[in-house]
Amino acid sequence: MANLSIILLLLFIYQAAALLPPRFQWKTMDFAWEGAERESALTNESYIPVNNMPTGIARWRDKLFITIPRWKKGIPSSLNYVYLNGTQDAPLHPYPNWNEGCLSSDGTVISNRTVVSTFRVNVDKCDRLWVVDNGVSEMSTDVKQVSDPAVLVFDLNNDSLLKKHIFKEEVLADTSVLTSIAVEIVGKNCDEAYAYITDMGSNAIVVYSLKDDDAWRVENHYFHFDPHAGVYKVGGIDFYWSDGVSSGALSQPKKDGYCDLYLHPTSSTKQFRMSTKLLRDKDAPKEDIFNGVEIIGDRGPKTQATACDIDPATNVLFYTQVCKNGLGCWNLDKPFSRENTPLILSDCNLMEFPNDVKADKDGNLWILSDRQSRFLYEAMDFGQVNFRVLTAPTSTLIQGTPCDRRSFFTRLVGRQA
Ligand SMILES: *[C@@H]1O[C@H](CO)[C@@H](O)[C@H](O)[C@H]1NC(C)=O
Ligand SMILES: *[C@@H]1O[C@H](CO)[C@@H](O)[C@H](O)[C@H]1NC(C)=O
Ligand SMILES: *[C@@H]1O[C@H](CO)[C@@H](O)[C@H](O)[C@H]1NC(C)=O
Ligand SMILES: *[C@@H]1O[C@H](CO)[C@@H](O)[C@H](O)[C@H]1NC(C)=O
Repeated sequence: MANLSIILLLLFIYQAAALLPPRFQWKTMDFAWEGAERESALTNESYIPVNNMPTGIARWRDKLFITIPRWKKGIPSSLNYVYLNGTQDAPLHPYPNWNEGCLSSDGTVISNRTVVSTFRVNVDKCDRLWVVDNGVSEMSTDVKQVSDPAVLVFDLNNDSLLKKHIFKEEVLADTSVLTSIAVEIVGKNCDEAYAYITDMGSNAIVVYSLKDDDAWRVENHYFHFDPHAGVYKVGGIDFYWSDGVSSGALSQPKKDGYCDLYLHPTSSTKQFRMSTKLLRDKDAPKEDIFNGVEIIGDRGPKTQATACDIDPATNVLFYTQVCKNGLGCWNLDKPFSRENTPLILSDCNLMEFPNDVKADKDGNLWILSDRQSRFLYEAMDFGQVNFRVLTAPTSTLIQGTPCDRRSFFTRLVGRQA
């Protein structure tokens, strides 16, 4: 029986990859330049095509946001979007526009709507875009602090900046790297909202309250990397990372009105959970915070994930599987076990280094793969496709897998009956 299920799962993985032709794919990331700007940007090196590597995505209506951290020189704009009706190699549009999306010629910000460097963004159900800006340029070479780290909230209907909160010094650490942002809306009103921002560089979660325009830092031992999970091999390249908590996703509200934040460090194979009751309480006693993180389980060797998201329609947590060039899932209504956390997609070509995953509110999953290990540690071949966005309905992706509401075996029996 066990062998049969392994064979069927392998068959399923193969079929799923065939089901997912890339919606977008690029050899290098290029922009929707106006007039002859591209030529002059190449000449003055405000655009160096090979230095642009995307790490985050989020869909809102006819836009797909794509973020490019300022790792190196020559990144025109960090926060961008493409139109969904575009061609496979659709050009990026800086957000909110060319003028304010880019830095000025002396390397400073032009307005409070300019995002300097962001890894991942989030769209909430009130049509708002939440961005966590690290404020730095040339992050991997010659770091420059261009602006203060901040959280920005945009109204997507008219691109106005609803809020910009600059973090106080005590909320951050010297090694802070803010990687992702999950958003909880309390009640029916959009005003009461909390953002949970992972600080991968210094092992913390920064909580931001929109209503109070205040932020605080939460630390816990489980936000640190696991020494057993620091070794990676992706795209034929071995590397070692000691990255802490890098991504979190929120459950639906529970009976007590609070959600659970499902979180994980990058260099870890464990799944953790923490109630937002504790996170939202700025004055929560240290012992409560210390004891407030629950270990749900371990997904097994080589299951490190950079990002995760929960699809509210199916109640499934999806997470990238970096060392397996794929995607895993877990149905929150089922016990956490190896069988219930399968690899449902894997393709060493289409999904080499899956970096971000997002469920949109129409029940589609979006996956970004970007060959990051080649970008950081070896040379990329820009004659090949390096960056891809794949998408499929979440229900299609989990059909027949243990993440489906009906179990795999129930389905098998159902089919045979
Ligand atoms: C794609 O959508 C955008 C925005 O909705 C629109 O401005 C543009 O004309 C559309 N392009 C095509 C080729 O349909
Ligand atoms: C480089 O050229 C672009 C496009 O003309 C311009 O927007 C930008 O300000 C220039 N940058 C510098 C550093 O001169
Ligand atoms: C954008 O829309 C919001 C309401 O959704 C409104 O309060 C705000 O004034 C608008 N801003 C601009 C610049 O039009
Ligand atoms: C952004 O800057 C403009 C112009 O300086 C100002 O009117 C506006 O209040 C600022 N918005 C936020 C959210 O800080």
